[in-house]
Amino acid sequence: MNIALVLGTRPQIIKSASLINEAVKHSELNLQIIHTGQHYDYELSKLFFDELNLPDPIVELNVGSGSHGWQTGKMLIELEKALVDIKPDIVLVPGDTNSTLAGALAAAKMQINVGHLEAGARSYDMNMPEEINRRLTDHCSSFLFTVSENCKKTLLKEGIIEEKISTVGDTMYDALLNHMPKIEASKIIEKLNLEKDEYAILTTHRQENVDNKESLCQILQAVLELDELKIIFPVHPRTERRLKETSLISKLEKTEHIKLVSPLGYHEMLKLIKYAKLIITDSGGIQKEAYWLETPCLTIRKNTEWIETVELGANLLVGVNKIKIVTEGKRILNESKYKFENKINPYGDGKAAEKIINILLQKSDIK
Ligand code: UD1
Repeated sequence: MNIALVLGTRPQIIKSASLINEAVKHSELNLQIIHTGQHYDYELSKLFFDELNLPDPIVELNVGSGSHGWQTGKMLIELEKALVDIKPDIVLVPGDTNSTLAGALAAAKMQINVGHLEAGARSYDMNMPEEINRRLTDHCSSFLFTVSENCKKTLLKEGIIEEKISTVGDTMYDALLNHMPKIEASKIIEKLNLEKDEYAILTTHRQENVDNKESLCQILQAVLELDELKIIFPVHPRTERRLKETSLISKLEKTEHIKLVSPLGYHEMLKLIKYAKLIITDSGGIQKEAYWLETPCLTIRKNTEWIETVELGANLLVGVNKIKIVTEGKRILNESKYKFENKINPYGDGKAAEKIINILLQKSDIK
């Protein structure tokens, strides 16, 4: 069976890692990676191939940055050519980025099976490009791999037939478990001169937060006020560009309790999350990683596709309201770091990739 895996962004590389490693164990499978080039900086792409020990892509489309329509359209054109050459039996697409949608659409239009990893996640916010990508990808996929029962229910409500849906768990959880020894070995805490449980992390890169000056300022003013501990702020390239346009950048750089750093590697980031007292983020993946690593999370969004973390009391939606971020941040900082009791993981058992591969192997009609 020829499998083409289409990816192009940092989170998609992480989501694919365990699957790539699992496929290698089966000689009857030939998994080939197509990289769209949506992320091209070393720190957002190649670094993760190196750290997660992944084979090089067979094709690099080098599409690069642009408006959503341009970027998705350019990928669609290039992916079609690549799929003609590779002739896969199935195209796998992880997550919710423009690369996900382009991969799904290119394959579906060529009548190639599409398998979507992380199907059925919904924020119900169509202002987010990711929500558009998720919904359209799900509805042109023939294999929908969900991370939780909740996501499966969502797909059933949308009229997707049950036979197409498999709840396998989260491949991001697989990756986290597989890399735990290297995560522990990371020296990032010493490198940044931090003490365990005595710092917070801020990450923000969502278009709706950072491309809107008012929202970005609310977030920055909140962390400027949360001055009782160090705040590490790994800055995404999109955010870096926007920061340079605000008057707050020089203030941020001069503020002692805030430390701006370049985007971090996988092991470094997870080590920091594990020993942080608080996470403030708009990332999807970090909300779940904070849950798995038992660190309280404030999500600076009005909604989340990972509603389970909110229902389980580990994640709080605070929007992009400065007062709410500061109030809830101070409340958490004044509590001793909580430990989950009777912790359950709604996102699987760390064997999602194995399950996906077994399902594909059983479907002889793919060929
Ligand atoms: C994309 C995904 C988002 C995901 C995020 C993870 C979409 C719609 N968004 O957002 O869901 O959470 O990746 O990081 O697919 N840039 C660089 N170097 C790079 C890549 C981007 O400098 O390697 C800059 C460019 O100026 C570009 C901007 O970042 O214009 C945005 O990049 P893009 O890939 O379009 O979206 P992200 O914000 O990274």
